[in-house]
Amino acid sequence: MDGNKKEVEIKLAKTAGFCFGVKRAVNTVYDQIEKNEDIYTFGPIIHNEEVVKDLEQKGVKVIETEEEINKLKKGSTVVIRSHGTTKKICDLIKENQLNLVDATCPFVKKIHNIVAEKSEEGCEIIIIGNDLHPEVEGIKGWSKNAVTVINSESEAESYCPPNDKNVCIVSQTTFNYKKFHKLVEIIQKKVYNVIIVNTICNATSERQVEAKQIATEADSMIVIGGKTSSNTQKLYEICKEECKNTYYIQTAKDLETVQLEGEVIGITAGASTPKNIIEEVQANVRFKF
Ligand code: F3S
Repeated sequence: MDGNKKEVEIKLAKTAGFCFGVKRAVNTVYDQIEKNEDIYTFGPIIHNEEVVKDLEQKGVKVIETEEEINKLKKGSTVVIRSHGTTKKICDLIKENQLNLVDATCPFVKKIHNIVAEKSEEGCEIIIIGNDLHPEVEGIKGWSKNAVTVINSESEAESYCPPNDKNVCIVSQTTFNYKKFHKLVEIIQKKVYNVIIVNTICNATSERQVEAKQIATEADSMIVIGGKTSSNTQKLYEICKEECKNTYYIQTAKDLETVQLEGEVIGITAGASTPKNIIEEVQANVRFKF
């Protein structure tokens, strides 16, 4: 062994990278490549350029609109990503005699089912979440009636409940737990009959709690994820608070610009960072010392 090499301990977060639903969706597309031709995903399968590029090289194309669905050759495969989509899109795919492969995360699918059932029963649906997020867009599309999306305290304050209807509240899976409770509290004061279903998924908060813990123990901390990934940005902020030597990188190549210090190096990654990138970073950190 090189005499100058020092022993470093690498603490890799168990929750780094893909959550269960994203892993399942990405694997579904790779499985389809083995079985079928003419494969499309409705929207990019994840927000990671490397993965989308790799799939593109294997012939998988991304479509985004109803018009594009209408133009596909009969028998083509369309994969729905983990965020899910509207009932209208699923129906359109089937009507066009395309092969619908639904990789909607089961936790998101559960929300679709609640919304479909409760709206059928006559409840007004409230989604606590970001109206611009594709997951929320998809959830709205399973309601039989109009839906209200609430994202802030001021929106909750100005919400006008219907006179004679029950209200059913669900949440976007990645919504902040504390904020959800706060908003529900405000709405509850205005509505008599309210069904509250907390549909927040723990994957995000578990990743954040673990990242924070590792950052408190690490001398340097590496957070891996796409530049535009908001959940990676959040992880970076959490880690930086605990460990001043925290670095935000995209791939192992970026390690060249990073000055790692100390003997304990922590590593975590955002929800759309593939395992091979995490492993490569881990291997390169060892090499640096
Ligand atoms: Fe992931 Fe599904 Fe939760 S996509 S964040 S496991 S809701």
